[in-house]
Amino acid sequence: MIDVAFLGTTVRPAGTAVVIDVLRATSTITLALASGYERVLVAGSIDEAKALRAPDRVLAGEVDCAPAPGFDLGNSPEETLQPRGTELVLATTNGAPAIIAAAQSADEVIVASLLNMGAVLEQLAGLEDVLLVCAGTDGRVSIEDVYLAGRLSAQLEGERSDAARIAESVAAFYPTAVDALQDSAGAVGLHREGLEGDIAFCAQESIVDSVGRLSEMSEGAALLTAAPAVTASAPTPELRT
Ligand code: MLT
Repeated sequence: MIDVAFLGTTVRPAGTAVVIDVLRATSTITLALASGYERVLVAGSIDEAKALRAPDRVLAGEVDCAPAPGFDLGNSPEETLQPRGTELVLATTNGAPAIIAAAQSADEVIVASLLNMGAVLEQLAGLEDVLLVCAGTDGRVSIEDVYLAGRLSAQLEGERSDAARIAESVAAFYPTAVDALQDSAGAVGLHREGLEGDIAFCAQESIVDSVGRLSEMSEGAALLTAAPAVTASAPTPELRT
């Protein structure tokens, strides 16, 4: 069954939970791992992230979309393009708690964004119990997360729940990803903070191959690393000869 949880606070047990916070937590995690951070520690709160500070760890996060006071980075994906350590510690309002909630109830957790949509679909191919978890914005359903859930659902094989079909309808409504993101609750705070450039950045599709996957809970945080790439089923050139 392909199913959707419209809010990160309504995660239920699942074989694979795919956490989505397009604006911006899961876009930031995706790009951080693609840029060379070896691990991302997703903390449950700003204070928990501060307690994780250590040499070679870079603290990133937001409060009401603005960079968290005293942190090294905000929550703009592009800030992770030049790694400043081996581990990124991330605390955000909705996306981070959704990842931690999923870690407590799903067998496997990965994080998805438009930036790695193609690679996420490769990871999900053939799985039978997939819950697409929309983080939402400030406790409310947010269009950009439902949009990506619908885009993913539409390309997966298998039976769909009504929630998945609703998400697919939302995705089909928008001509382009940036239209959906601009129309979302997640965009409001970014406009307010002068961070609207993040909207167009996060609307880019399948520009990286890395997919963050939960390795374990560590020091109270969800420890994410890049999932091994899915190997192609076609024989290698060496095997053909
Ligand atoms: C969140 O987790 O609420 C978001 O990532 C907020 C943001 O930084 O845009």
